[in-house]
Amino acid sequence: MPGAETSTTAPAALAASVLDRADRLAACTEEPGRLTRRFATPALAQAGDLVLGWMREAGMRARRDAIGNVTGRWEPPGGAPAGTLLLGSHLDTVRDAGRYDGMLGVLVALACVQRLHEERRDLPFAVEVLGFADEEGVRYGTAYLGSGAVAGALDPATLERRDADGVRMADAIASAGGDPDDLAGARRPTGDLLGYVEVHIEQGPVLEAEDLPVGVVTGIAGQTRAEVSFAGVAGHAGTVPMTLRRDALAAAAEWIGAVEAHGRAVDGLVATVGQVAVEPGTSNVIPGRATLSLDVRHLDDGVREEAVDALRERADAIAGSRGCALEWTDVQATGAMACAPGLAGALEAAIAGAGLRVARLPSGAGHDAAVMSRLCDVAMLFVRCAGGVSHHPAEAVSAADVAVAIDVTGRLLDRLASGR
Ligand code: GLV
Ligand code: MN
Ligand code: MN
Repeated sequence: MPGAETSTTAPAALAASVLDRADRLAACTEEPGRLTRRFATPALAQAGDLVLGWMREAGMRARRDAIGNVTGRWEPPGGAPAGTLLLGSHLDTVRDAGRYDGMLGVLVALACVQRLHEERRDLPFAVEVLGFADEEGVRYGTAYLGSGAVAGALDPATLERRDADGVRMADAIASAGGDPDDLAGARRPTGDLLGYVEVHIEQGPVLEAEDLPVGVVTGIAGQTRAEVSFAGVAGHAGTVPMTLRRDALAAAAEWIGAVEAHGRAVDGLVATVGQVAVEPGTSNVIPGRATLSLDVRHLDDGVREEAVDALRERADAIAGSRGCALEWTDVQATGAMACAPGLAGALEAAIAGAGLRVARLPSGAGHDAAVMSRLCDVAMLFVRCAGGVSHHPAEAVSAADVAVAIDVTGRLLDRLASGR
């Protein structure tokens, strides 16, 4: 009977398939023995191929766009959809990653469409699933390349950035089968969009503490990324007296301490130096250059911007006091984003409809939804993850919680279909 749940479309069966698919995606990696899947790599292409296959199995028209995102479109069997709802997340990972950050949102979306397809459901709108090619920004230091292209928010100058091996982004996109000259082709027209909904692991401990499987995201913290270089003078570690040194790494170390102290001093601020490259990087040579990454986040853009200004002034002062030069490159700034009250409210109603207490929580982690909010209304559903652990191979979700996420997303589709 059309619309009736079958043994393969029950949330528990779909959840088992989501976890199995997450394991299969985890095998698509650049590094044997651990999961690393950066933008425009063969591992990402392999993961995208799997997802394209699953999209087609779920009755979707599927393709890869100019930057390497995979997208699939399901149309209701009755035809004439009055709009399109976007569901998705990203398929790239950090280094030595877990298997759910990003992938869970794509796989839950696919499970929901598979259910629509198998139950021959007839919604008044189409559903598109997006698997973004880059959200983490690991390879080029700048995040959201995939959703940025879809939202038409990608600065063409970004294409000239080079990765750690000197590979230009434009060349990497081309060698992965994309088309850097046609990124405009990846842009999603907005006329028919009803919204973008992203399911994602929480990446924090709140839902676990609240004993809840899912929660609704209120907004996403803004983030600034910068590359900061201290240039000093390299010299012999045995002959140059301490008082005559211009040690770039010592300057950088002083500044890293200042970054941490500033992050601790301002309520809600997080500030991180996650990468340090030292030149020449030899034990008996005074460091001549130290290049660092800076990542600063807050839910209030003003607080974040003030913090970045203060950290830049502090870097200038430290460099000056040590006879070093400071080079500061702004890499990316993404404003804080509030989820759309209407769509988030529908998600809350879907959670309540499943008999669950509704928890609302902000996101300190960045998500594609932040960029997609430039195109349309967005909402996000967080799923409890074990110990709040993420960006780590120990990342874990339970099959029962994934089943809840599928059930709630299905209820959201039903609510939007009935216009409630
Ligand atoms: C991505 O996970 C980020 O928040 O940096
Ligand atoms: Mn992540
Ligand atoms: Mn993510």
